[in-house]
Amino acid sequence: MLQVRLCTLLLLLAPLLLGAAHRVYNVSRRTFEIDYNQDCFLKDGMPFQYISGSIHYFRIPRFYWKDRLLKMKMAGLNAIQMYVPWNFHEPQPGQYEFSGDRDVEYFIRLAHELELLVILRPGPYICAEWDMGGLPAWLLEKESILLRSSDYADYLMAVDKWLAVLLPKMKPLLYQNGGPIITVQVENEYGSYVTCDFDYLRFLAHRFRYHLGKDVLLFTTDGAEEMHLSCGALQGLYATVDFGTAHNITDAFLVQRMFEPKGPLVNSEFYTGWLDHWGELHSTVKTELVAASLYDMLARGANVNMYMFIGGTNFAYWNGANTPYAAQPTSYDYDAPLSEAGDLTEKYFAIRNVIQEFKGVPKGLIPPSTPKFAYGKVALRKFKTVAEALDILCPKGPVKSHYPLTFIQVKQYFGYVLYRTTLPQDCNGSMPIFSSPLNGVHDRAYVAVDGVPQGVLERNLVTTLDIQGKAGATLDIMVENMGRVNFGEQINDFKGLVSNMTLNHSILTNWTIFPLDTEAMVRYLGGWEAHDEGHPDGYLTFNPSNFTMLPTFFVGSFSIPSGIPDLPQDTFIQFPGWTKGQVWINGFNLGRYWPKWGPQVTLFVPRHILTTSAPNNITVLELEFAPCMDGTSELCTVEFVDRPVLDIS
Ligand SMILES: *[C@@H]1O[C@H](CO)[C@@H](O)[C@H](O)[C@H]1NC(C)=O
Ligand SMILES: *[C@@H]1O[C@H](CO)[C@@H](O)[C@H](O)[C@H]1NC(C)=O
Ligand SMILES: *[C@@H]1O[C@H](CO)[C@@H](O)[C@H](O)[C@H]1NC(C)=O
Ligand SMILES: *[C@@H]1O[C@H](CO)[C@@H](O)[C@H](O)[C@H]1NC(C)=O
Ligand SMILES: *[C@@H]1O[C@H](CO)[C@@H](O)[C@H](O)[C@H]1NC(C)=O
Ligand SMILES: *[C@@H]1O[C@H](CO)[C@@H](O)[C@H](O)[C@H]1NC(C)=O
Ligand SMILES: *[C@@H]1O[C@H](CO)[C@@H](O)[C@H](O)[C@H]1NC(C)=O
Ligand SMILES: *[C@@H]1O[C@H](CO)[C@@H](O)[C@H](O)[C@H]1NC(C)=O
Repeated sequence: MLQVRLCTLLLLLAPLLLGAAHRVYNVSRRTFEIDYNQDCFLKDGMPFQYISGSIHYFRIPRFYWKDRLLKMKMAGLNAIQMYVPWNFHEPQPGQYEFSGDRDVEYFIRLAHELELLVILRPGPYICAEWDMGGLPAWLLEKESILLRSSDYADYLMAVDKWLAVLLPKMKPLLYQNGGPIITVQVENEYGSYVTCDFDYLRFLAHRFRYHLGKDVLLFTTDGAEEMHLSCGALQGLYATVDFGTAHNITDAFLVQRMFEPKGPLVNSEFYTGWLDHWGELHSTVKTELVAASLYDMLARGANVNMYMFIGGTNFAYWNGANTPYAAQPTSYDYDAPLSEAGDLTEKYFAIRNVIQEFKGVPKGLIPPSTPKFAYGKVALRKFKTVAEALDILCPKGPVKSHYPLTFIQVKQYFGYVLYRTTLPQDCNGSMPIFSSPLNGVHDRAYVAVDGVPQGVLERNLVTTLDIQGKAGATLDIMVENMGRVNFGEQINDFKGLVSNMTLNHSILTNWTIFPLDTEAMVRYLGGWEAHDEGHPDGYLTFNPSNFTMLPTFFVGSFSIPSGIPDLPQDTFIQFPGWTKGQVWINGFNLGRYWPKWGPQVTLFVPRHILTTSAPNNITVLELEFAPCMDGTSELCTVEFVDRPVLDIS
């Protein structure tokens, strides 16, 4: 504790000592290092404490990057912390994407312009409640692959190749090279993973140093328990801990001290809120607890990164899942100090007040929360069921296979695959179709026989279904990938029918498998109004016995009113009476909705995807039941509202 106090004192005196430091240190040289005598970081030779916040550029449209970073700076932060998700940048092996919303270098340069330092966490595994913890799904093409381990050459080679693309882009952005990146994390909470493979950590540390130079300050982060650090910490990588408000701060830092007897105290993930899962209660963490813990840690001279400072959104299909299988929703609001939509909250100002007690916060105007607009109700019309639109959704045609194939085997990584076969015998409703004792539906399947909906199968929850149909009838099983597991042992999470389906104990064979390209459908529908060929009165697919229908596309459009200044503005879309599905606006995949399960009810719609110069086109893929499908109404409506609902209860 004496050393901690000495360091705190030096931090307070840092501005006064700067003059003296000019004589002692060569401050014209940019350095960032650890002072093991004073238990601090040294920036340009001077004691330095970071107060940082996590922001994920991949969860915020580029359009809003600067706004969010500026709000973080105005809260008094001197650093940001960010992951880099490998699967976001290498969607197919060897195909790299670094432009637009994926321009990670531009994001880091923006932070630099705003004089925010950067704590970089390039994985390659990042967890982050992100699909497969950031690992690309195509790694699973080697079915026996051992992830996050040195025991599987193909995994190491893929990692090596990726790091050789990413890290050279990061090198000029390192602090010592004139950029903002002060420290770089190796792997992520590796001590929580089963392998405990120091050769793997050594391999990564070696590759990081090879690409970034020997001066780079590398660190690890693990849950503040001895058992985690004993597999996650490695000599030469500075060991840090992560913990939230429920943790005893003294005890947590004592765990760090067991592995780093000297050096700065660091909480790399101080939880300002917590994540959600579909079907569970919305998570929150009280502002007073966050403020009190932050105060306590800063008073100890500790370096703190707040996870998250802004959570953002799992657009499209990017959310991850935990086990036993529970998928995270589209919103990653996280109850963070800046909301999903970037709004200033009470927690933001409470944190700013705490920071102000330790160091100055920037003067000037804090960028205000963006205005939101309630565009109101929009009527959607039924376009086609998935089965009716297979020519558009699967232009290359289906794959034939005796037994079912996984998503990976048909080279489909996200979204949906339709599995089709015929019934080998009459089924009168008491003959079960099993998803096998192996729980083979990953993750949710919408089942129909000859176009009549039969019900839903769901991983871990519903593995059998009674079906009705005659021998020779077409059995359609549309399987949804709800997001790959991002944490724990089961991160090699195969999707689709991952085991055989049986009917009255015999294995169903002779499958016709349609990988579905929903984005192709949405592109096609962009011009749909022009050549109307829908079936707006096709209610025959509705099964009145239990209100299920076939997975169906709906379309509609809305124009933004003229005469109101500053439109378009941000908004939120909600689905009254709808069940579960996916929504796009003007081709932008906003994510999944599932108000039946919650807790999330509204989806964030950033204004940059809207336009005043043409009708804005909405496409919805409803998987289970839309409110107008009972025949009482011609149209199903969605509604744009001006405030988010993330807690259904
Ligand atoms: C300080 O460091 C810079 C950059 O490394 C170097 O060019 C300069 O000569 C150094 N000055 C002194 C006084 O050592
Ligand atoms: C934290 O634990 C220490 C002992 O390790 C104890 O002295 C202290 O009272 C605890 N703090 C709180 C807030 O419970
Ligand atoms: C369905 O068929 C089975 C076997 O033929 C028979 O035992 C059962 O009563 C039938 N159920 C109905 C609802 O017709
Ligand atoms: C629909 O009905 C079938 C047969 O009665 C049932 O097994 C299934 O779970 C129901 N589906 C839903 C979504 O309720
Ligand atoms: C289906 O069963 C066959 C025969 O037992 C087996 O060879 C095959 O691997 C199984 N397929 C899957 C996806 O489980
Ligand atoms: C189900 O399969 C068993 C043999 O495995 C057979 O005896 C029985 O008749 C079958 N049931 C129906 C309804 O076809
Ligand atoms: C397999 O399915 C195709 C339709 O895709 C059908 O024409 C063929 O007769 C089936 N083969 C067997 C052996 O059932
Ligand atoms: C929406 O679709 C209509 C009809 O195809 C088209 O004229 C319009 O440009 C589309 N709007 C946008 C924003 O793309």
